[in-house]
Amino acid sequence: MTTASAPGKIILLGEHAVVYGRPAIAVPVRQVEACAHIEAAQAGSSGEIFLEAPDLGLSGWLREAPDGQPLAAIVRATLEKLGHPDFPALRLRLESTIPIASGLGSSAAVSIAVARALAAHLGSPLSDRDASDLAFEVERLHHGTPSGIDNTVVAFDRPVYFVKGGPPETFVPGGSFEFLIGDTGIPAPTAQAVAEVRAGWEAARGEFEATFDSIADLVVAARAAIVAGNPVELGTLMDQNHDLLVVLGVTSPELDLLADAARSAGALGAKMSGGGKGGNMIAAVTPETVPSVTQALYAAGAVSVLHTEVGP
Ligand code: PMV
Repeated sequence: MTTASAPGKIILLGEHAVVYGRPAIAVPVRQVEACAHIEAAQAGSSGEIFLEAPDLGLSGWLREAPDGQPLAAIVRATLEKLGHPDFPALRLRLESTIPIASGLGSSAAVSIAVARALAAHLGSPLSDRDASDLAFEVERLHHGTPSGIDNTVVAFDRPVYFVKGGPPETFVPGGSFEFLIGDTGIPAPTAQAVAEVRAGWEAARGEFEATFDSIADLVVAARAAIVAGNPVELGTLMDQNHDLLVVLGVTSPELDLLADAARSAGALGAKMSGGGKGGNMIAAVTPETVPSVTQALYAAGAVSVLHTEVGP
């Protein structure tokens, strides 16, 4: 059996502005992951793959899966990349602990775990860059105009400073940073939030471009704070980024409530993360404030709170 996994992710700063060419920072979240297992199938003829993804409620042969089905799409894209090799029938089983549609990079992680497992099983392991590019093809099918930040951070499994269309750029934190990820429990399709920002930008380009520029300044400063190992500064920049996301209209009362609760309970800073309108809020914390902020987030309505750490 061949197994490959890929982590979840959070965007620390720069979401939405990143779609308009500004930089953004994302980090892997290894507490959750997608895992793909490939082995010989008991039945089926050569070149066939049986897909099984209990978390997605999916089970059936690849040939019967519609084009728009994300799992089938990454399998087909990977086989094409490998030049359609011959192989005895296979069974692919996917398991994931990454919540869907909540900004934790579930779809990119699924694609990358599957592409890696399949390519490795067929004797042609993928580079991080190839895995990222394949996942991007599938992200594009489903999210319209993704920036590519999700597939990049998930494939490289390191903090990334991401600029759309640019080469993947990873960097090393100069110290340890702790975050709590509070889920509002409200599913929030990223494509919808991205479309709303697009409509706003079309109606008031000057104002939106100015907000994107301000966000870019925060992202540049945040990278320096992370490299310098300065969580206090990072927290302040996250607060400022949240305020600018309010200006863009992509937060929600629930996200604002969680961010306020985290700050009141001693977080160094807090903001929504990802597409917004629901999904997750992230708070920068210290080991001492983890318990109080966790408790405050649940009291303010979080349905789950995940603790993650990013370090050198
Ligand atoms: O919802 P997420 O975490 O997949 O992030 C979306 C980030 C956006 O900047 C809003 C869109 C994008 O493609 O970068």
